[in-house]
Amino acid sequence: MTKWFSAGLIIVAIAFISCNSTQNENSTTMAAITKKDWGEVDGKQVYLYTLTNKNGDVVTISNYGGTVTFWTSPDKSGNKSSIIIGFDSLSTYLQKPPYFGALVGRYGNRIGDAKFTLDGKEYKLAANNGKNALHGGLKGFDKVVWNATTVSDTIPSLTLTYLSKDGEEGYPGNLKVIVQYTLTEDNELKIEYNATTDKATPVNLTNHSYFNLTGDVNNTILNHSLMIDADNYTPVDTSLIPTGEIKPVKGTPFDFTTAKPIGRDIDSVPGGYDHNWVLNSKDGSLQKVAVLSDSVSGRSLEVYTTEPGLQFYTGNFLDGKFINRDGKAINLHTALCMETQHFPDSPNKPNFPSTILQPGQQYHTETIYKVVLNK
Ligand code: BGC
Repeated sequence: MTKWFSAGLIIVAIAFISCNSTQNENSTTMAAITKKDWGEVDGKQVYLYTLTNKNGDVVTISNYGGTVTFWTSPDKSGNKSSIIIGFDSLSTYLQKPPYFGALVGRYGNRIGDAKFTLDGKEYKLAANNGKNALHGGLKGFDKVVWNATTVSDTIPSLTLTYLSKDGEEGYPGNLKVIVQYTLTEDNELKIEYNATTDKATPVNLTNHSYFNLTGDVNNTILNHSLMIDADNYTPVDTSLIPTGEIKPVKGTPFDFTTAKPIGRDIDSVPGGYDHNWVLNSKDGSLQKVAVLSDSVSGRSLEVYTTEPGLQFYTGNFLDGKFINRDGKAINLHTALCMETQHFPDSPNKPNFPSTILQPGQQYHTETIYKVVLNK
């Protein structure tokens, strides 16, 4: 067993700034990580971790599914409601909401006909979305209990590890996954994904948080404005599998190269946006790729990633079945996802950037969501 798998759970309370207990514009909070028992799944203990930075931003994350359940960052009037939709109890997550806040793997988004061929061998996956495989299968990384450690530093950070065994959900190779969540002093939630394998396998890890910058699911996200730095996108067929084409966004409803309200052209896209944008940044360095803004709250969310794609999904299948922590129904278009990733169905699309991880290679990607307040 490697060091990171054998490491136990540690609580680290980080005391580094606490000059003034009075809350005012310039006051600082004590940055910290705490954890509480949150239940049990598969005979394993589930915890809810609370990360607080020196500005008082709070993010809660569970080792069940690596799920981000809550993120408060004040709006321009100082109101603190969560910009991520989610629930306070583990039991609601066990009712399988559609990947709310979860870590998604081994393969984020769809693989067509739930199969792929690698090195001459066909691998069959569970068809959990019509005839296709979605988000890692019947029990993807969003439904397992991860090992967790907290890092002793001035910046709160949670490291989650998971060993996905050879053959799990049909995928080849023992895949060791390490995901590190950090809440920085600049109100960024930084997510670093690492993995190694002992057999060639597709890997495409992402986070599936649903955002509503108003902090209130009574508002849809159609008035949020969005910029995506992408001149192209990957069109899909009726079962949301890319056709393999890479098409320009110019002159289409998919053009977000200049910020525009999400609702402006959505009616021209049957079902709403649920597509992969081909990001202009191509060299794998960390780049700003999208900016989401809400003028009422004054909040913007900047997205930085090393990934080549962004799945922008406007909550088209949200139907009020789940009730947000504030008691309000999570209805159509009341939250959106910006999933940084490689392109859907890449294992069957030789012209897309490869998602195959080979033994001896290190999978490493990074994504940052950063809250900026426009007063
Ligand atoms: C997919 C959607 C799916 C949603 C929830 C998104 O990443 O693109 O089609 O409905 O996840 O499962």
